[in-house]
Amino acid sequence: MYLTRDEEAVLNGELGNSYALAMKVLTVVGDALKAERLIPVVHTHVSGVSYFNIGDAGVEFIESLAAGNAKFQVFTTANPYAVVTDTPYGELPEDLISKQMRVINSLRLMGAATFTCAPYYVRRPSYGEHLAWAESNAVLYANSLVGARSNREGGPLALLEGLVGRTYAAGAHLDEGRIPTCAVSVKVNQGVKPSDLSLLGLRVGELCPDSIPFVEGLEGLTENEAKTFLAAFGSTSNSPMVVFNKLTPDSEELLANSDFKERFSVDANSLRSIYSEIREGVSGEGVVYFIGCPHLSLDEVVSVINYVKSKGSGGLEGRELWLGVSEDLQLDKGLLDSLAGLGVRLIKGMCPVTTRLNMLGVRYVVTDSGKALHYMPKLAGVKVIIKDRSEILKEFLCR
Ligand code: F3S
Repeated sequence: MYLTRDEEAVLNGELGNSYALAMKVLTVVGDALKAERLIPVVHTHVSGVSYFNIGDAGVEFIESLAAGNAKFQVFTTANPYAVVTDTPYGELPEDLISKQMRVINSLRLMGAATFTCAPYYVRRPSYGEHLAWAESNAVLYANSLVGARSNREGGPLALLEGLVGRTYAAGAHLDEGRIPTCAVSVKVNQGVKPSDLSLLGLRVGELCPDSIPFVEGLEGLTENEAKTFLAAFGSTSNSPMVVFNKLTPDSEELLANSDFKERFSVDANSLRSIYSEIREGVSGEGVVYFIGCPHLSLDEVVSVINYVKSKGSGGLEGRELWLGVSEDLQLDKGLLDSLAGLGVRLIKGMCPVTTRLNMLGVRYVVTDSGKALHYMPKLAGVKVIIKDRSEILKEFLCR
């Protein structure tokens, strides 16, 4: 791989061991992927932040970089961490909280701006911009809806890329790495409900596990609806991008260059019956209603809060509605207190999906997220019920 003089100097240790390590790993990965050079990036996003995902080895690695005074060279955000604030459900053991805090503090020391899985709300990328992001829903959003360019990086690699402000020129950074090779025609005879989009995303991901799909039939989606689809899709597919007919920037050009190896047809309405068992009701204690996987935009939060306030009463005693949002989202303290009184809690900078919620006594999670449906039974140790956001709010408020 060709390296500039500055890149070679970093590789040779002129800035210190942490940066040399970062450059070394990046060039090895780039060589393996036949990249001819490195590309500067403007924003890196680190995943692998929850202690439950990275364990002791992960904590020690991140801590060693921070202790060596390593700093991110470009704007960097990080994924949410495990749920560590007080909840009425119970507490994680003290040593787990302390290890999670060590990760958070180390990333802050290195310069992480905030913790969220929706970095596109913190800093919206521009068309054509190169990124090194490691959260699947965020990568899919940037490539598919904005026309920015990022591969789906591993968490540690994105962290190292942030230290040198570069990524390798391969995959979705190149025009040829963005061409769809799988065609999916979606039929939506009776209109598509939001929870259908989650199930649809999971299904299209299963059909195209390693290829970029060209999806037609969803031309009228809003960006929020497409976000729901993409987050679910990224749970069952490794692809960094979905080309939505007419919605994705350059979709016509990408279609013109496409080389479909497979073609599928999916009836969105039929998915409801396939997944009917996960729409059942919940009973007893240990129920959490959770909206915000991926994290909500400010507009989405305000819309949920306005709905709850308009009803004037909260959920059943002992049940909470959790709204997943970026750590830096600011709302009036009085409003937050009044929401807490109604059982509504902003889960700022945290990810319930990668927290062992069963250790808190949670048994059921009711959510609108296909990604949560896919991962929570295994990672959080809970049963997941999927419903539309409006159904979740009505059920939480017993209306
Ligand atoms: Fe975000 Fe956690 Fe879902 S990182 S996308 S809330 S799995």
